Amino acid sequence: MIVLGIESSCDETGLAVYDSGSGLRAHVLHSQVEVHAEYGGVVPELASRDHIRYLLPLAEKVMQQAEVRLDQLDGIAYTAGPGLIGALMSGAAVARSLAWALGIPAVEVHHMEGHLLAPLLESDAPEFPFVALLVSGGHTLLAYVESIGSYEIIGQSLDDAAGEAFDKTAKMMGLGYPGGPILAKLAERGRQGVYRFPRPMTDRPGLDFSFSGLKTYALNTWMQDHLITEDQDQLRADIARAFEEAVVETLLIKCRRALEQSACNRLIVAGGVGANQRLRDQLQQMAKKKQFTVSFPRLEFCTDNGAMIAFAGCLRLQAGQCQPLDIDARARWPMDDLLPVGEQ
Ligand code: KG4
Ligand code: ZN
Repeated sequence: MIVLGIESSCDETGLAVYDSGSGLRAHVLHSQVEVHAEYGGVVPELASRDHIRYLLPLAEKVMQQAEVRLDQLDGIAYTAGPGLIGALMSGAAVARSLAWALGIPAVEVHHMEGHLLAPLLESDAPEFPFVALLVSGGHTLLAYVESIGSYEIIGQSLDDAAGEAFDKTAKMMGLGYPGGPILAKLAERGRQGVYRFPRPMTDRPGLDFSFSGLKTYALNTWMQDHLITEDQDQLRADIARAFEEAVVETLLIKCRRALEQSACNRLIVAGGVGANQRLRDQLQQMAKKKQFTVSFPRLEFCTDNGAMIAFAGCLRLQAGQCQPLDIDARARWPMDDLLPVGEQ
């Protein structure tokens, strides 16, 4: 089965062609960073307009790169939520219209299911069941994954998502957008031990997260010290380092707890913050020590992309799932509402 995947939930237009026989055939991505940079964050209306501009040219490009003709497609998968409603509708409209014109099925994909399944695109894909840590700009959650489509949420953020906390912390120190990668780069120059930030909600049982207080802690540190510090760049780097260490250690503690509670020894990590090198290195070290396996998607498939949508959609189409022709998208969509795909 050959499936075209379309991702347009936020500030990236991603398209890919996935073939159930030979794997990923091609993927292309257009990032809107330049469109939103001057506003310091995503402007929803500009995002929708940019998606409209790029969706069709990118569809043509990815089909060429995959060396697949339109009449060879068996289905079209698109992100139907959660995300920015205008951005989602742009992708949904293109996906459904193309499916209608070609007389093939279209299938809705849950954005977070896309992220969660992205590590399965790699050659060292883990077997089920596993614990998944999803860390993106909009979500931070831990799920116990029995099989595709069967997601038990065992922990989640009560306020800011981890990526959101990275972005807001970077913004308040006058760094650009998106803040996560910029802060992570800066943290490399930060000195260890200059600051120690709290590890929120780790001193009590449970798997929930809270990153809002940590962001405020960073803000207070910056407000207090930037007036009395000469080397502001070094101060920013030291705060970035302390912030990153606190987020990473908090995530590590909760992952270890989740594995213990679920009596599971396989972990997967997905979502934009999964691209964070400190998180990847430290989880790998902990996995060696505590004897569990940890799998990540390649870096480019941690952040938003079309490949994860084409892949997740292909699995659902193969299970006989698709949706009627009306164009639908959801700004909010609880992941535990999803239909299981069947026994894996
Ligand atoms: O998954 P994603 O592309 O979009 C959402 O579904 O939200 O994640 C984007 C988030 C942003 O908050 C971004 O700052 C963060 O992931 N991010 C990172 C890194 N790369 C992206 N955070 C920390 N370190 C990184 N290297
Ligand atoms: Zn995402």
